[in-house]
Amino acid sequence: MKTCTLTINNKSLNVEAGTTILEAAKSAGYYIPTLCNHPDQEIKANCRICVVEDRSAKKFVTSCSTKVYEGAEIHTNTKEVRELQNGILELILANHPNDCLNCIRNSSCELRQLSERYHIRNYNLQSDIDIYPIDNTSGVLVRDRNKCIKCMKCVEACQETQMVGILSPSYRSINSCISAGFDENLNQTFCTFCGQCSAVCPVGAIYEYDETEKVWEALHDPKKHVIVQTAPAVRVGLGEEFGLPRGSKVTGKMVTALKMLGFNKVFDTDFAADLTILEEGNELLSRIKNGGKLPMITSCSPGWINYAEAFYPELLDHVSTCKSPLYLQYQSCHVLQKNMNAKDLK
Ligand code: SF4
Ligand code: SF4
Ligand code: FES
Repeated sequence: MKTCTLTINNKSLNVEAGTTILEAAKSAGYYIPTLCNHPDQEIKANCRICVVEDRSAKKFVTSCSTKVYEGAEIHTNTKEVRELQNGILELILANHPNDCLNCIRNSSCELRQLSERYHIRNYNLQSDIDIYPIDNTSGVLVRDRNKCIKCMKCVEACQETQMVGILSPSYRSINSCISAGFDENLNQTFCTFCGQCSAVCPVGAIYEYDETEKVWEALHDPKKHVIVQTAPAVRVGLGEEFGLPRGSKVTGKMVTALKMLGFNKVFDTDFAADLTILEEGNELLSRIKNGGKLPMITSCSPGWINYAEAFYPELLDHVSTCKSPLYLQYQSCHVLQKNMNAKDLK
């Protein structure tokens, strides 16, 4: 393995050749801010916030896109580097609504966290905020382009990871923005609602449609019998959210917490998933016996089904006719509710 020896903040390091300065700094425990960088994506180097000083080359470079080299002398936290980072943040903020208290990403927004870390307070740049209508037409994802910092992570997620390609950069210079389809609302495009764009967005520019307030209203309504149904992934995802090691199951804790919140019944999609598997098994046997379309393909992901319908309609005969377990469970809950007597509902 070919290696390079360099110094970062006067500390000598020996790293594999081809490593970026950002990766090398991280491996040595140094913090460098990033916005457009994502470990699973290509290097874009368009936010510029990861700037560092390469003193041996006498220049400032973006650490996410610059490779280490033998003898490099890198500094990540000099006065000049901090001034540049502050300036970059101020430029981004000059084109960003100052709306943190109303923003769904508030406490998890990477731009807000960086502004706090860099003590951005009374910056003097004149604001030039884009005014775009908010797109909540899909009822699944909401796009607020006013908050977009044009990092392009969503574009790569949509084009390269999901291979859907409905998000793309449009227009030029100060008018540049991320468009869906031909500058349309999401519900007019072939968006599969996989949600990968919202998972990588560092700010509140694209996010899941939120119905939390409706849930609170239902919970506070004494005339309502409120039920909740969770998918299997939730009981593992929740554990991570509360800082438990990855993969920890918190089924019992989750049910207790939901009951304490006021839900009358807690259902698990597991039951309907088992029914779905039985049905899929029957369908497969019937296809084999009766010469039906094979191979049979199944998925309980609505996004996956949307993708097949939009991009591979010729394969739809291969897709099982069994619906998502969530849908089946919804139906069973509905029947259950209809059969409950008035006393149960009090
Ligand atoms: S939810 Fe739609 S826009 Fe977002 S990555 Fe998936 S297909 Fe693309
Ligand atoms: S919508 Fe979010 S992820 Fe996409 S370019 Fe804008 S800030 Fe980046
Ligand atoms: S993180 Fe390096 S340029 Fe954006």
